[in-house]
Amino acid sequence: MSDFAELHYNGEVIKLPVIEGTENEKALDISKLRGQSGLITIDPGYKNTGSTKSAITFLDGEKGILRYRGYPIEQLAEKSSFLEVAYLIIYGELPSKEDLARWEKDITYHTLIHEDFRTLLEGFPSNAHPMGVLSSLVTSLTAFYPESLDPVRSADEVRMNIVRLLAKLPTLAAWAYKNEIGQPLVYPLNSLDYGGNFLRMMFATPAEDFRADPVVTTSLNKLLILHAEHEQNCSTSTVRIVGSSHASLYASVSAGINALWGPLHGGANQAVIEMLEAIREDGGDTAKYLAKAKDKDDPFRLMGFGHRVYKNFDPRARIIKKAADDVLSKLGVNDPILEIAKHLEEAALNDPYFVERKLYPNVDFYSGIIYRALGIPTNMFTVMFALGRLPGWIGQWKEMRENNEPIGRPRQVYTGENERDYVDMAKR
Ligand code: CMC
Repeated sequence: MSDFAELHYNGEVIKLPVIEGTENEKALDISKLRGQSGLITIDPGYKNTGSTKSAITFLDGEKGILRYRGYPIEQLAEKSSFLEVAYLIIYGELPSKEDLARWEKDITYHTLIHEDFRTLLEGFPSNAHPMGVLSSLVTSLTAFYPESLDPVRSADEVRMNIVRLLAKLPTLAAWAYKNEIGQPLVYPLNSLDYGGNFLRMMFATPAEDFRADPVVTTSLNKLLILHAEHEQNCSTSTVRIVGSSHASLYASVSAGINALWGPLHGGANQAVIEMLEAIREDGGDTAKYLAKAKDKDDPFRLMGFGHRVYKNFDPRARIIKKAADDVLSKLGVNDPILEIAKHLEEAALNDPYFVERKLYPNVDFYSGIIYRALGIPTNMFTVMFALGRLPGWIGQWKEMRENNEPIGRPRQVYTGENERDYVDMAKR
C-alpha cells in the first residue's frame, strides 16, 4: 500500500503523506497542504481531524475498545487502584511496588490546602455551582505555587506540580461542596486512602466523623478509573491547547474543568439524573421522552446517549451498568430511577432512530445512579468526573510539553463582509 495519497487540484497533483499508528490507524498528514496548494481543510467540531499523535489511550469506537497504555479498561477497572492507573497514564508503565508506595505516600502528604483558600472560598455565594468554584480554586494554585508558572523548569518540579494537583483536587472539591451547603470545612486525614479521604471530607461534620463503607470506596475506585482518560475529548483537547501556549499545568487543568462542565460532555451525568427525575415526576412515561428526543423541533436530547466516537456500546457503560446493579443491591438501595433508566435504554436500543444513528448509552447514563447510591449530591456529579479525569488531563498535558508541540491555532474560512468604508454616524 502506498504511503501517500494524491490530491488533484487546479491541474496539480499534491502528495499527502499517510501516517500510521501502532493499531494501524491511518491519517493524512495535511500540515504542508496550505504551502503546497493554498488550501486549508475545514472540519467543524474536529469530527475527522487528529490534533496530535498520542501514546496514552487507544480507543476503537466501532468495536467498543478502550485501553490505557495498552491495558484493557475492563482489566484495570477490575484489578487496579485509581492512583496506580493515574501513574500508568502519566508515566506510561505500571508502577513497581516501590514506585507505587512512594507515589501514594507523596499524594497522601500533599492533600492539605493553604489556609488562605478558606478566604477565597468565603468569597463565593453559597449557591455557587461546585464546578465553577473548583476551576477557580485550581487556577488559584498558581498564586500559591508560583514556580508552577514555569511548567517544565525541571523534572522534579513537574513531578511536584503533578503530585500536588492529584493530592489537592479531592480537598478542593470537597471544600467547594462544604461551602455550598454551609458546613465547616473538613481537613484531610493521612491514614485514609484517596477515595475514603475524599468521602470523609465530604460527609464528616464536627458533630460526627465519617468513614465510608468499603462497598462505597470500591465503587468509587472503579468509577474514577473508568473516567481517568479518554484521548482527545473536549476537555482534554482544551487542556492541551491551553498548555500549548506554555500556560501552567494548573491553568491548563482549570480550563479543562470548565470544558468538562457542559451538559454535552461531563455535565451529562448531572443532566441524566435530572432527566430521569423529570420523567419519574411526569408519571414515568419513557415513550413520551423517547418521542421528544426524536423530534427535530424539540431541543430535548436523551442525555447519556450517543457519543462522538463510540458507534457501539461504550465499554465503560457496560461496566458501570453492572456496577450500578451490584452497588445498589449491596447497599440495599432501591432507586426507582434505575428502573426508568433500564426501560429507557431498552426502548432506545430497539428504536430505529437510535439504531440507525448508532446511539448507545455512554459512560454518563448509569454513573449518576451509582453516585446517588453513594450519597453524592447531584450537582457534585460532574466534579466526580473531574476527579476521575485528572490523570488523563495531566498525562496529555505532559506528553504535549515533552513532545514540544507547537501552539494550537486552527485556521478558519472567513464568511464575513468584504472590505468596506467606515460610515459616519450622521449617515447611518
Ligand atoms: N438524543 C437524541 N438524538 C441524538 C442524541 C441524543 N442523545 N445524540 C445524537 N443524536 C442524533 C443527532 O440529533 C443527530 O441526528 P441527525 O443525524 O438526524 O441530525 C445524530 O444523532 C448525530 O448526532 P451529533 O450531535 O451530530 O453527534 P456528535 O458526535 O456531534 O455529538 C454527543 C455527540 C455526545 C454530543 C451527542 O450524542 C449528545 O448530545 N448526547 C447527549 C449528551 C451526552 O450524553 N453527553 C455525554 C457524552 S459521554 C461523556 C463524555 O465523554 O463527555
